[in-house]
Formats: sequence, structure tokens, C-alpha cells
Amino acid sequence: MDKRLLTSDFKKSVAYAENLYYERCGTCHRAYDPRNYSSEKWMAIMESMKFQAGLTSLENMQISRFVSLFAADK
Ligand code: HEC
Repeated sequence: MDKRLLTSDFKKSVAYAENLYYERCGTCHRAYDPRNYSSEKWMAIMESMKFQAGLTSLENMQISRFVSLFAADK
């Protein structure tokens, strides 16, 4: 069995997180382009927006990872 994770499993989990991002973070305002902010700035944004969106800690982790993956400094 192929144990490498940076293949289809990775794509699936990023796609899952992207959908979650548009669902949870695109209601009050448009979902901002992850490339608009550095990953450090995203961490600060998520710190307040997780309460706005009522995220569970799992959703917070998934969305934080998604936005930092495509952040301006990446
Ligand atoms: C309940 C409504 C609501 C939800 C849901 C929401 N936001 Fe926001 N968001 C706001 C408001 C209001 C502002 C502007 C005031 C502020 O910055 O607090 C804002 C501002 C922002 C900004 C601009 C910050 C800046 O400094 O320019 C970003 C980026 C952002 N939200 C991301 C998110 C993300 C990511 C999520 C999902 C986790 C999310 N928002 C969910 C209400 C919401």
C-alpha cells in the first residue's frame, strides 16, 4: 500500500476545508481570498472570526490550515 500522504488524501482534505471555508466564512461578508493576508495575519483574524462563525475547534483547525496553506507569504 502506498503510504505517502501528499497525494490524493491531501487533495481531498484541502478540498474539504475549502468548502467548509466558503460555507462558514462567506455568509456575513464574501469569503476573502486566502492570498490577501500573511499566515501570521490569518492567525490573528481566525482568533476573532472563529467566534463570529461559531466554529468548533476542529473546524477552526481545518479552516486555519486551509487559509495558511494559500497565504500571501506561501
Ligand atoms: C457573523 C458574521 C461573520 C462571520 C460568520 C465571519 N465574519 Fe469575518 N468579519 C465580520 C465582520 C463584522 C468583520 C469586520 C469587522 C471586524 O474586522 O471585526 C469581518 C472581517 C473579516 C476580515 C477582514 C479583517 C481585516 O483586518 O481586514 C476577514 C479576513 C474575515 N472577516 C475573515 C473571516 C473568516 C475566515 C471567517 C470564518 C471563520 C469569517 N470571517 C466569518 C463578520 C463575520
